[in-house]
Amino acid sequence: MSSTALAKPPLLDRIKARARRFLGPWGVFIKGFLKHPVMVGAILPSSGGTVVKMLAPVDWAQTKLFVEYGPGVGTFCQPVLDHLRPDATLLVIDLNADFIDYLRKTIRDSRFIAVHGSAACVNEIIAEFGFQHADYILSGLPFSTLPDNLGPVIAESTARALRPGGAFLVYQYRARARDFMAPFFRKIDTGISLTNIPPCHLFWGWKE
Ligand SMILES: C[S@@+](CC[C@H](N)C(=O)[O-])C[C@H]1O[C@@H](n2cnc3c(N)ncnc32)[C@H](O)[C@@H]1O
Repeated sequence: MSSTALAKPPLLDRIKARARRFLGPWGVFIKGFLKHPVMVGAILPSSGGTVVKMLAPVDWAQTKLFVEYGPGVGTFCQPVLDHLRPDATLLVIDLNADFIDYLRKTIRDSRFIAVHGSAACVNEIIAEFGFQHADYILSGLPFSTLPDNLGPVIAESTARALRPGGAFLVYQYRARARDFMAPFFRKIDTGISLTNIPPCHLFWGWKE
C-alpha cells in the first residue's frame, strides 16, 4: 500500500468534518449566516413549535402547490412534505445557492422542487413549472433586513400568485412584515411563537 493511501487528512480538516457531522443542518445554517448575515437574517433555524403553529391553518386536502420563500436548510420542508398530498408539489425559492445545493442533496422526494432565485420572481418561477397559482405561500424572509422596496414588491407578487382562498404565511422577529402585507391582504390573522429563539410574530394573510 502506498504512503499516500495511508495519509490522514490534516488535523484542521478532520476537526471541520467532525464539527459538520455534529452540527448537521444547524452547522450549514450558521455557516450561511456568517457568510451572508443580511440575506439570511437569523443565526438559528426556526423552532419545531413555530413550524407546527404556522402550518396549523393549512387545508392540506385543497393544496396542490405549496411555495416556500427562504427555506434555508429546510426546517419547514419535511413537515410540509409529511402533510402534502401525493400528487401535490412543494416548491422552495432561496437566494442562497449553498442552501439550495444542500436541500437538493438532502431531500429526495419527487414532490420537491428547489429553485435558486428571488421570491420577487415567484409568478415567473411557478409558471416555469406549469402552475398558474399557489395555494399557500410561506415566507421565512428577513423582511426587516431586505433591501428597500423588496418587501412591498414581494407582498404584491405573492398576492398575485395565490389563488382566492389561499394564504400568505409569514413569521418574523419584528411586526413590520404586517405593514407590507396589509395593502394586499384585507384579512390578516396574527399569532406569536414563544418557543422560537428569539420569539417571533406569525401572520396569515388570506387572499379574498
Ligand atoms: C431567516 S432565514 C429562514 C430559514 C428557515 N426558513 C427557517 O425557518 O429556519 C431567511 C432565508 O431567506 C433567504 N432569502 C433572503 N432573501 C431572499 C429572497 N429575496 N428570495 C428568496 N430567499 C431569500 C435566505 O437565504 C435565508 O435562507
